Amino acid sequence: MAHILIKFGGGLITTKSKMKTVDREAISKLSRLVRELSRLGHKVTLVHGAGSFGHLKAKEWKIADGALESIIEQQKDAVISIREDMLELNREVCNSLANHNVDTQSFPPSDWANEVGADFSGDLSPILNCSEGVVPITFGDVVDCSKPKLFGILSGDDLMVRMGKEIPGITHCIFLLGDTEGLLSAPPANPNATLIPIWNKNQQVSGEHDKTQDVTGGIFLKLESASIISKIVPHVWFIDGRKPDRVLELLTTGTTRGTQIVP
Ligand code: IPE
Repeated sequence: MAHILIKFGGGLITTKSKMKTVDREAISKLSRLVRELSRLGHKVTLVHGAGSFGHLKAKEWKIADGALESIIEQQKDAVISIREDMLELNREVCNSLANHNVDTQSFPPSDWANEVGADFSGDLSPILNCSEGVVPITFGDVVDCSKPKLFGILSGDDLMVRMGKEIPGITHCIFLLGDTEGLLSAPPANPNATLIPIWNKNQQVSGEHDKTQDVTGGIFLKLESASIISKIVPHVWFIDGRKPDRVLELLTTGTTRGTQIVP
């Protein structure tokens, strides 16, 4: 049986451009997927992104830049507020999973992680030791950092790298995306963009990083993260999260429509 580490991208479970708009329909479809994977006997570990529950306020108050003297008081309020918003989004995801008979246990990074990037510090063992039959879930968050930064954004993609590397027995690592079928040859808005079925880091990509909404690394961070994970985890994929059946197809046939990331 497989042990599948899945990230629900923030753009998949929320509308990225509109403050705190959750996509319940999308989350419900993903919950059905997790239930089906569990029913088939697979183990699932989940990470989710922030979308409009994290990026918009983080951008407004430059949270990814760390403490800035001129606006530190407002930044401190924003840090509290974003953490609350992330807990709210996480509750939405967990409630939907519960409605589909999936038991979860949440591990909010602001409680157990420090520093940003894939080498952040924090003990993964409580996640590793989560009870049998319970799906552990964590998410991109604002975490404490050492001086002078004081705080920063730990992306769900960085969590995927640490977890992919350190959780023994992970067989599949899947990034579910909200606006594309996988990695495209050009940005999704370009009509000539075609799906790249298999990718390694020697292949050039012409991507774009929407800095107006995204305070973490966009597609480039995701590719970098997936590439590191592919050295350890056998099956690493970018798949269209609007089509969760593709994940089931991957598990049953060994392939599907999407982008496989190889070392
Ligand atoms: C970002 O996490 C966390 C915050 C902005 C608080 P991610 O980088 O994993 O989020 P998405 O998937 O891009 O929305």
